[in-house]
Formats: sequence, C-alpha cells, structure tokens
Amino acid sequence: MSTTSSPRIVYVNGRYCPIEEATIPIMDRGFLFGDGIYEVTAVLEGRLIDNQPHLERLDRSLGEIGIPNPHSLAEWTAIQSKLMAHNGLREGLIYIEVTRGVAERDFNCPAELAPTVVMFTQAKMIRDNPTAETGVAVVTLPDLRWKRRDIKSVALLPQVLAKHAAKAAGVAEAWMVEDGYVTEGASSTAFIITQAKEVITRPLSHTVLPGITRHAVMRLAERHGLKLLERPFTVDEALAAREAFITSASSFAMPVVQIDGKPVGDGAPGPLVRDLRALYIEAALNTPD
Ligand code: PDD
Repeated sequence: MSTTSSPRIVYVNGRYCPIEEATIPIMDRGFLFGDGIYEVTAVLEGRLIDNQPHLERLDRSLGEIGIPNPHSLAEWTAIQSKLMAHNGLREGLIYIEVTRGVAERDFNCPAELAPTVVMFTQAKMIRDNPTAETGVAVVTLPDLRWKRRDIKSVALLPQVLAKHAAKAAGVAEAWMVEDGYVTEGASSTAFIITQAKEVITRPLSHTVLPGITRHAVMRLAERHGLKLLERPFTVDEALAAREAFITSASSFAMPVVQIDGKPVGDGAPGPLVRDLRALYIEAALNTPD
C-alpha cells in the first residue's frame, strides 16, 4: 500500500512515473471520443486474481473495435507486476486503459495510430470488505446503454449516471432493466438464487459484459452442488428470490439485500452467497499464477 512518503507511481506508454507527472495529450481519442477499452483486475496478497481471462477479455474488446493490442499476455503481466511492486500493492485493483491514440480531432483517424496505454493501482480492502457482512442495496433503472455492452468500453456515461442515481437514493449499486428484465449492475453482474436454490443470471450476449468473476463464481456454484440457469430474470423474481448477489473484480460475490427499498429474502446476506464468496476467495488464493 502506498504511503504518504512514497509517491504513487502510474504507468503511461512505457514509463513508470509519479502520478503528478503523468500526462495524456488533449487530442487523445479516449478523452475526446471515449474511444478506448479498459480492464480491472483484483489483487489479493500481492497476487493478480483471474488475470489471464481479464487480459483475454481486453484483447477481445480491443479486437472488436479495431485497436491493435500493443502487448502480449506476458508483457501485460510484467507491466502489472512491476507497477504493483512500485506501489507495494498487496490488496486492491489494477486498472488498464488502452485508447486508439492521439490524432487531430476527427471522427476518422489514421489507421496506424499508436495506442495510448495507461495503468494505475488502487489500494482497496476487497477480501475483508465490511459491506460483505451487511450486503448492498440496489435501485433499478432503465438500461440506457448502447447495443454492444459485451465490449468493455471506457464510454461509461450511462453507468456514471446510474451510479449517481444510486447514490442519490442512498445505495451503492444500480441494476439496469431492459424490456422488463434485469441486464446487469452498473459495474457488476446480477444474480438471484431462487427458493429452489437455482442460481440464475442472464446468458451472455451483446446485452451484458461477460464478467470474469461471473464465470468463476458460476463454476464454483456448480461444484457446490447448486443448479445454474442462464436466463433473464425480472425485478419481481429477484424480490421473490431466496438470495441475490452481484459479482465483479472489485466486489467478488457481494450479497444484495434490498431492491428499490424492498428486502430480498429476510433482508440480510444469505448463507449461499456467503459460501460462494468464501469459495471464490479460497480459489483465488489457491490457484497457481
Ligand atoms: N466493472 N458488468 C459491468 C457493466 C461491469 O462494469 C463489470 C465490472 C462487471 C463485472 O465484470 P468482472 O467480473 O469481469 O469484473 C459486469 C469493473 C469492476 C469496473 O468498471 O470498475
């Protein structure tokens, strides 16, 4: 964890430097057009969690919008590790952003632009996050996003507005709803567990981000003897569920105890989500790099 005496070091285009010295040209297309991709990987006990699938998703997202991936998997991992070492990061997040690069503002741009690469770390308590003990409340909102939500684009205005609305309602997350069904959280995947103990989440498509934590938690749920169903669910179904939860790199599996002011189950974190959270943390710490 960085202290006041050690400067926070970030990575910009091959350079490790104090954050105060890091600059991006104002003509960067990430800044002007939201023309870029990002990834967030969790760090526990100084180890990158589920990092390979995060880097594979980065590669896929870049490919989908035609930005060349500037680094191999091994190169990305080496930069991440060096940055973590610079900042003494033991627990928290590592953020990667790749934009199409810098060019005079025009919707079109030269094909051979060099992508901009930025990386920074954030110290954060993820494993012993006290919120896991209380669970989170969510509000539901219309899903205002574009039609390729499977791409992890830095154009996050709908999610920013959803988080602002959640904060105004005094809660931590928003569940976005489209055609009567929950798509996902503003920055997380949405799950419910029915009275019959079926774990339900929306199937992958262009309507949701293919969550890396979603995938890992689903495999653990299966091994835990729970039945998985990938299908859309409604807010009413969520309110009638035994338990509900969200998954993400920054929250792992986090109980959802209230939706639009109404309790899910008995309004407290349930045993199955607690199990899944514990199993995820155990697997994260015991999977070889
Ligand atoms: N958000 N859905 C959305 C819309 C997300 O933004 C995220 C992650 C997820 C969960 O994906 P994963 O399990 O791969 O983290 C689902 C990150 C944490 C963020 O924007 O900070």
